[in-house]
Amino acid sequence: MTRLASYGIGPRGGLLMLGLVSPLLFVSWPAGNAPQATQAADTQALRRLEWMRENQRGLWNVDPNEGAFLRDEVIKVKAKRALEIGTSNGYSTIWTALGARRTGGHVTTIEIDDTRAELAGENFRAAGVDSVVTLVHGDALQVVPTLRGPFEFVFIDAWKSDYLKYLEMLLPMVPPGGAIVAHNTTDMRSQMFDFINRIKADPQLKTTFVDAGPGGFSLSIKQPAK
Ligand SMILES: C[S@@+](CC[C@H](N)C(=O)[O-])C[C@H]1O[C@@H](n2cnc3c(N)ncnc32)[C@H](O)[C@@H]1O
Repeated sequence: MTRLASYGIGPRGGLLMLGLVSPLLFVSWPAGNAPQATQAADTQALRRLEWMRENQRGLWNVDPNEGAFLRDEVIKVKAKRALEIGTSNGYSTIWTALGARRTGGHVTTIEIDDTRAELAGENFRAAGVDSVVTLVHGDALQVVPTLRGPFEFVFIDAWKSDYLKYLEMLLPMVPPGGAIVAHNTTDMRSQMFDFINRIKADPQLKTTFVDAGPGGFSLSIKQPAK
């Protein structure tokens, strides 16, 4: 049985597994000190991101400032393993992958929708980030419990009423110092009060709210056990 079947996805979509090249093959460059080859690769990704903004609208993507925040946060927490819930066409994933490429890390991203998963696969190839991204085409509510941590960076951007479920599943997989970022904590706050209340109250988390763009992010850093 393929992983496709185990995630309950029909035959049309298929399981898009990208980035099977080991992340160990990648050298980690300090941010701001990338050799030319990496700068050229980043330019290729940034061009594709621009192209996506012009040609693939209405797919609920973060905005460019928010994307840059995700990239910088991956670098800041030195994430080797990043996880994204809710890929859409891969816009935020590509930003996250830009960070992971700097840390020598890898991004796993999960998308349930056939068409958007297919677009994401095309975009990862065109952006040249497919070697640092694994796209799992499936229902994150079923996939996440099958994953093994640690994930030093988690980005939650799926249906808002599910955020608390993802947090509860993922919190044990995030090591101290790791970051859990959630999108739309400003513009869709009313749909996720349960999640917001939890990240503000949980003693394992130190949470701030980041105004990087219209959606708004929560940024919760996992605290060392007391
Ligand atoms: C807001 S969009 C993601 C946008 C993307 N992060 C970006 O900024 O480019 C939310 C995505 O989550 C996906 N989604 C919602 N529930 C899901 C689930 N249970 N499993 C996987 N994907 C899910 C939707 O299909 C949709 O494509």
